[in-house]
Amino acid sequence: MSSNPGTPEPRNLEPRNLEPGNPGTQSIGVLISGRGSNLQAIIDAIASGRLDARIAVVISNRADAAGLDRARAAGIETLVMPHKAYPDRAAYDRALAGALKSRGVVLVCLAGFMRLLGPAFIDEFPNAVLNVHPSLLPAFPGVDGQRQALEHGVKVAGATVHFVTPDLDAGPILLQATVPVLDGDTEEALSARILAEEHRIYPEAIGRVLTGRWRIDGRRVTFL
Ligand code: GRF
Repeated sequence: MSSNPGTPEPRNLEPRNLEPGNPGTQSIGVLISGRGSNLQAIIDAIASGRLDARIAVVISNRADAAGLDRARAAGIETLVMPHKAYPDRAAYDRALAGALKSRGVVLVCLAGFMRLLGPAFIDEFPNAVLNVHPSLLPAFPGVDGQRQALEHGVKVAGATVHFVTPDLDAGPILLQATVPVLDGDTEEALSARILAEEHRIYPEAIGRVLTGRWRIDGRRVTFL
């Protein structure tokens, strides 16, 4: 995947707040806005021992996010932080970062979190915010990546896990997985095929990042 020449270089490329070789299970925070199937995949990966991490808190900007029930069922602390309760994006970002930091979170995982995070948040977690996106980035960023792929007529689609920068869906790529686009595919059928890959690669990427055994050169992430 070549880099997008229109994308500014990501910032804060030193893995400063992840300590390689740190003994013990590290705390992550998961941010959601809705269904929470990726959250469930992370919960399941931890429960089965495939991922060594602890979800310290699940935060939603929406009180009606179904993923909150998944977290509660797993005994995970939940917080509802409606963005409308804050005067501006920076105030919301600071409050979110504070809630995560106070719980010892070292890695933040966006899982269907439908809010852009600005520098006030990302600077608090340098190289420690991940997102999963339902397309092969840099193709089809933004909403409805699956529909964009179908409408464009691509023959291969997929999922991407990437570091989050202030630019939408533009940060360095950690893992990708491909799926075929089949003749007669509906958006629902393609989305389900992609989602299965999201559920596979997101916990894997989280585990790899938590090892601290990776580096970023320019936009390229290398696992060591
Ligand atoms: C997923 O398709 C993810 O790629 C995108 O939002 C969706 C969230 O789904 N960022 P879920 O809430 O994890 O089920």
